[in-house]
Order: sequence, then structure tokens, then C-alpha cells
Amino acid sequence: MPGQRSADWWRSAVFYQIYPRSFADGNGDGMGDLPGITARLDYLNDGSAASLQVDALWLSPFFPSPQVDFGYDISDYTAVDPVYGTLADVDRLLAAAHRRGIRVILDLVLNHSSTRHPWFLEAQSDRRSPRRSWYVWADPAPGGGPPNNWLSSFPAVGSAWTVDERSGQYFLTTFTPAQADLNWHNPDVRRAMHDVMRFWLSRGVDGFRLDVPHRLAKDPMLRDNSPSLAAARRFMDHATDRQRHIDLPEVHEILRGIRAVVDEFAGRVLLGEVTISEPRRLARYFGDADNELQMVFDVLFWDSPWSGPAFREAIAAVDRHVPPWSLPCRAMSTHDHRRAASRYGLLAGDGRRARLAAMMQMTLRSVPCIYYGEEIGMTDVPVGPERIRDVDQRDANRTPMQWGTGTLGAFDPARSWLPMPDETDRVSVLRQTADPDSLLAFYRRLLAYRRQSAPLRHGTFEWLSSEPDLLAYCRTAEGSRIVVLLNFAPHESRAILPSDAPMGVAELSTDPGRRVGTALAAGHPLSAEEGLILRLA
Ligand code: NOJ
Repeated sequence: MPGQRSADWWRSAVFYQIYPRSFADGNGDGMGDLPGITARLDYLNDGSAASLQVDALWLSPFFPSPQVDFGYDISDYTAVDPVYGTLADVDRLLAAAHRRGIRVILDLVLNHSSTRHPWFLEAQSDRRSPRRSWYVWADPAPGGGPPNNWLSSFPAVGSAWTVDERSGQYFLTTFTPAQADLNWHNPDVRRAMHDVMRFWLSRGVDGFRLDVPHRLAKDPMLRDNSPSLAAARRFMDHATDRQRHIDLPEVHEILRGIRAVVDEFAGRVLLGEVTISEPRRLARYFGDADNELQMVFDVLFWDSPWSGPAFREAIAAVDRHVPPWSLPCRAMSTHDHRRAASRYGLLAGDGRRARLAAMMQMTLRSVPCIYYGEEIGMTDVPVGPERIRDVDQRDANRTPMQWGTGTLGAFDPARSWLPMPDETDRVSVLRQTADPDSLLAFYRRLLAYRRQSAPLRHGTFEWLSSEPDLLAYCRTAEGSRIVVLLNFAPHESRAILPSDAPMGVAELSTDPGRRVGTALAAGHPLSAEEGLILRLA
């Protein structure tokens, strides 16, 4: 693979999340698939600035699954759901990605399996089965009903317990009743999952995005949550205090075991979806040495409202706790969140907000992750009640990639598994590729700039003090220094520069009117919602 497996390749990488069901349709059945992704790798990185030039892909699950939670309910961890292809398709995808210098990480769902997984079927078949203790079982409460007050993360579901008619016991299902929580206190479960990881790592995958790793340990006594916490049950576990099935101290030993397996292979990485919004607790998942997750998603960042001060506070709160061996990963949207373009109104006017958001994401000291379609400004697509498929109604932000009718991998709107918007062809890769002023063209310029910028790839980060609506920071590496100015105000602001640098040279701006290459001094006007990168003399 070009560039070798330098152990810390991920530190300067730009990730791109692919939701396989919606990325590229290779066989025209209305659902995305692995050959579709492989066919579209040149779009992601063909080695030139005419492509997006991302460094790594995170693929959401493509394993066999009854699709109750769209692949997050896995019935076989070491195979491929026929909807998406075959193991040979994975090998081809990995080889083709690696040839282009693109790393690939898979989604590892460790907290629960599908209730159709053979492990669960065996556990359910007999109370004395050795597999029984691979899951979390309990007798009904003394007066009948679920063993405790734990709630599913999906408000539509209710109790986190599902009754097993055969034995009369309950089993734990903290998402849907079709996803049974595994018992990670059982060493056999750990061993089996470690082998799953080795299966994929030996095939050449570059690491894993871990699904809710902070939930692997549960209170062995199954004590009630306090009633106020029981209500904070979204899988964004923004409770301010502990729940008894989330973020237990024991989880860190489990994660160290997982990291040890990853470290058996050179240059592999773990990115955790730890949905804890208290930065100090979140940062514990980086480990007390370089021994847990190299990256965790910054949930404060993706939850921030659109405001300069709010972003600044969120970013600073997490950065303060990041140890030298780790980095936060900053995404604006995922398959679980409303798309940033909709949430933040990024496309209003001439779309300068979308460019500002992208510039912020690509210039912080963190690993950016682009959600497929974000680079063309895809918005949430209204999905009528008759076509809602997801238990938590996340359909609107999972609609098919808008490639442009008739192009490689494009979805046929008449067959696509989720609706496509009327303006499918107006907001499309096809159209934006031909337009040098498009959002896609801006993303390509921005990523190309980042790629050759030592300060952005691995420089230090330092805030400059400024007006609340103007985010200003310096990044420095190898004797070169840049300033990033992000004007969130709907009106002009004045550029600020570090006190020891009177002039900067404009390198990249979100404002099409800004002349690149011109020198400007502190106090120079920035346009409303302009983002600007300056090289310091
Ligand atoms: C987090 C995933 O991102 C989400 O899509 C899923 O529903 C839950 N975990 C359960 O696996």
C-alpha cells in the first residue's frame, strides 16, 4: 500500500463515512452494495486533486443481518449480507482501496448481536446451554415484569428487557428487542469477539469504528437506575451521572483487551463512538497510556448549535482532555444525526455557511470525518410515514447518495430503498463536478490544501483571542505557521493576527470574491460568514 503502514497514519487522515446501503448501487436493485463502493473509489481518491482525496473510509455494517436496526443487528460477524455482496467483494474493495492509498475501517458492533445470531439461538434454546451466559438473563421482578427499570436507548421501545416466553426469563436488549446485549463479563465472549477482530484484521482491514464501546460492561447486580437517569435514554447518553449499564469502570479493562488484539497487527486503529458528553469522562476512553482507543468521536462538536461561541466552547472543552497519543474525531453528521446542511441551514444564500463549516472541520486539531454526500450539500430528505423504516426515524439522513442520473453507481429513484428528493439531479456529484464554484469543488480544494499543509496535518493548535463570533486559531509545524479565521457573524468582522505577525497572506477563503495570494494585516475586513486561511510571514 502506498505510504506504508506508518503506525500513526490516522493522525493526519481525513475519514469518510459510507453507509453501504445508500452509497452506490452496483446492481441496480435500489440498495447500495460493496461492488458499487469499489467502482466509486476514484471519486474518493484517485491520487489527484480532481478527486476528494480522503485517506480512510469507515464502512457502516455490511454483515448478515435481519436489518431491524439496519445492520447494527448482526447475525454473523464474519460474513457479508448477500444484499451487499460477498467476502470476495470485501477483498476486492480492500485491495482497490489500498492501491489508491485509502485505508478502510469496519464497524464493529460488540455490545449486542442479533437475536437471530446462532450464539443467541443456542443460548435461548436451553437454560443450561453453555452459551446462556453469553447474554444477560434475569428472572422477572418479584411482582412480575422486567427485572429492573433500565430503558432502551430508543424511546419507541420502552423497557430494555425482552421476555423469553420459553424460559420465562428476561434478556437484556438496550436497543431493540431484536438486539440482545452480550455479556462481556464472560471471558468466552471476549475471546470470540477477539477472534472476529483477527478475522478482519488478517484480511487487511485497517481498524474498527467501535459501536457504543462505553456500554460493554453492565452492573452485575442489575440494580435500578435512578429514576431521573432512567429517562435519559437516548443512545446519546447525555446523563450527567452514571447509569448502571453505561460507562462502568470495568469497561476500560475490556477495551484494553480489544486494543491489544488490534496491536497484534501493525498500523491499525480504533475509533470509538463514545456518546458521553462530559469531556473528562469521554477522554478516559483514550486510556491512561496509549492502550485504549486512538480516537473517539467528539459528541460535543456534533451536538453544538450553529454559533461561534458554542463551537469554540465545545472544541476547547474536549481538546483540554486529549492526551498526546490520541485525537478526537470530528464529524458534523452521521447515519444517526440529521444532516448538517439541514440542521444548520448550511445552504442558505450562496452556501457560504457550508464552506465555513467544512473549513472549520478540516482545520481543527482533530481527525475529520465526512458523512457521505456532505461534500455536495445533501440535506435530509422528507420520508413519508409509509416509507419510514427505522425504529428511531433516522431515515431522512440515510437516503441514497445523489450521483446524478445515469452515472456509475447512481440509484434509480423509482427503485431506491428510501425516497430521493425531487432535486436529486440539481444537487448531484455529476453537476457539481462540472462546476468550479460548487461545494464539491470547494471540498476538493480544501482537502488538497490540507494535504500539503504541515500545520494542518500535524501542527500545534493555539486559540487567538478575538470577538465571540470570530473563531481564530494558529497552527504551527516545521517552522510554518498559519492562522484560521472563521467569521460566524452575519456581518463583517475584522481580521486578527498574532501580536508577533503583522501580515498574513490569504491562502484559501470560503468567499469567492477574496483574492488568494494577497497580503493583509490585522483589522482587514472579513466578509459575513467568511472562513479564511492565512500564511504568516
Ligand atoms: C450506534 C449506531 O450508530 C446506531 O446506528 C445503532 O442504532 C446503535 N448504536 C445500536 O447499535
